[in-house]
Amino acid sequence: MIVITGATGGLGALVVESLLERVPADQVAAAVRSPEKASGLGVRVRAADYSDPASLERAFAGADVVLLISGNEFGKRAEQHTNAINAAVKAGVGRLVYTSAPFADSGRLALADEHKATEEVLLASGLTYTILRNAWYHENYAQAITGAAGSGVLTASAGDGRVASAARADYAEAAAVVLTTEGHDNKIYELSGDTAWSFAELAEEISRASGRAVAYRNLTTEEHIAQLTGFGLPEPVAGVFADVDANIAKGGVLDHTPGVLRELIGHPTRPIADYVSGLLKK
Ligand SMILES: NC(=O)c1ccc[n+]([C@@H]2O[C@H](COP(=O)([O-])OP(=O)(O)OC[C@H]3O[C@@H](n4cnc5c(N)ncnc54)[C@H](OP(=O)(O)O)[C@@H]3O)[C@@H](O)[C@H]2O)c1
Repeated sequence: MIVITGATGGLGALVVESLLERVPADQVAAAVRSPEKASGLGVRVRAADYSDPASLERAFAGADVVLLISGNEFGKRAEQHTNAINAAVKAGVGRLVYTSAPFADSGRLALADEHKATEEVLLASGLTYTILRNAWYHENYAQAITGAAGSGVLTASAGDGRVASAARADYAEAAAVVLTTEGHDNKIYELSGDTAWSFAELAEEISRASGRAVAYRNLTTEEHIAQLTGFGLPEPVAGVFADVDANIAKGGVLDHTPGVLRELIGHPTRPIADYVSGLLKK
């Protein structure tokens, strides 16, 4: 039995879809906090909240492998993921697969602090594990892309730094492969897109796809934080996003293109240009 947490989220739903192409539906269960949202997934549904250890233990019963998709409640996630790992130990789960962040153990990205803490708990748990350090999704830039197509300006504070993003669906496919094939015990995979793009290049792609001239305007970190707080983000969250761009500018975390994702899924990752044109056609 393969149990997927976060299956009502963007990534989790795609993992279930990809799993159903590989194994019968009765071998998959979705462990979700909102069962009413999971009825269309086509697999059995179990109620599980990362903040409720007993619910997690019940949801993981009989699982050969659990995919723990990192939560989205910032500040609570280290504790929530620890609850899930402890529940997996108690339920006797054979292997736990965790979606982490690029180079989580390096301490470079502020956003990855809770992933680093989770990885440490997982490694100390004695569970057989596979860690999927997913780099950025193309989808993270959906709003920036549509906004720039409308305004003619793409803003970020990443300088000439490059981003090896990939489509969420490619990461989901990799998770499905790792959940259904052998050879991934106690491995850590740095997953990213085949090529890394700069924001100036992204602006060119948006121009090409929209037919409107789009320029990249590089902001200072302070300007970026002010812009994000102006959009209504709390200052600490704005700081974390600006820290991502500062790291892109520096290089070495989000521009990594080792080809591991491509190798796992057995085909090239979806290029950003293809994502941009698909998004702007809608
Ligand atoms: N690599 C990247 O670029 C990137 C970008 C964004 C996020 N992420 C990380 O990757 C994860 C998956 O991405 P995504 O796009 O699928 O995010 P998402 O659509 O926000 O999905 C997050 C999932 O976590 C579930 N969840 C949150 N808190 C929970 C709790 N207390 N108990 C049980 N389930 C809980 C949500 O349940 P509900 O459906 O009930 O809300 C949802 O299914 C995110 O949560 C985040 O940690 C990575």
